[in-house]
Amino acid sequence: MQRPTSIVVLTGAGISAESGVDTFRDKDGIWSKIDYRDVATPEGFARNPELVDDFYNQRRAGLADVAPNAAHVALARLERQFRGKFLLVTQNIDDLHERAGSQRLIHMHGELTKALCAHCRARNTWHGDMLRTSRCPSCLEVRQLRPDVVWFGEMPYLMDEIDEALASCDLFVSIGTSGNVYPAAGFVEQARHAGARTVELNLEPSEGYDLFEQAINGRATEIVPEFVEHILA
Ligand code: APR
Repeated sequence: MQRPTSIVVLTGAGISAESGVDTFRDKDGIWSKIDYRDVATPEGFARNPELVDDFYNQRRAGLADVAPNAAHVALARLERQFRGKFLLVTQNIDDLHERAGSQRLIHMHGELTKALCAHCRARNTWHGDMLRTSRCPSCLEVRQLRPDVVWFGEMPYLMDEIDEALASCDLFVSIGTSGNVYPAAGFVEQARHAGARTVELNLEPSEGYDLFEQAINGRATEIVPEFVEHILA
């Protein structure tokens, strides 16, 4: 295997599954219990903001009961020890990558621990419940806050930075994602177009598994540390 010089890693809900954070589309996944149109679209938020507040308040409170697992830790190690360019792009809104020590990290779908103000557009760290009566820490307006999460139909964050990294990487690794949601599901083709080697690490083959040069199936806490060891060896 040729030594990579520039790596982009994409993660999804599967990397946090063994920490106790539910995935979306697996059996008993989040979207089997609640309709995404009610809690993950701007229209759903306009219809019933209290329902949306409650949904993300529960998920935010749940962060206190979970911790990074061996897969999160292995990626933080890769970032620290890898001598080339490295970028970790996550679709996850949990804070487990940061808590494992990752720094070169983009939350393309936002973060549970942030609030976005519709009035002044400020994004502030947010812990605890968000209610309609909550005040924006920047402009002090009420009824203007929403979870800083990118909903269906909205543009993910920092796409220019992500596209640039994909265009110059020579190794693209996708971990714990079903490949259902764009633009993330299209990253493998962007990386291939740039001539990068492409590897999928997932419990089972994803929607786009055949777009990858190599696919390794198994639990993230087992296959990710092994793969990182292999790269650093
Ligand atoms: N180890 C590795 N992979 C796993 C594990 C595990 N322990 N458990 C589940 N997986 C895999 C599943 O096989 C599945 O392919 O993780 C994937 C999870 O897929 P989804 O639930 O669809 O989550 P994700 O791909 O991250 O969803 C993308 O969709 O709902 C929106 O905005 C939300 O960011 C999310 C986006």
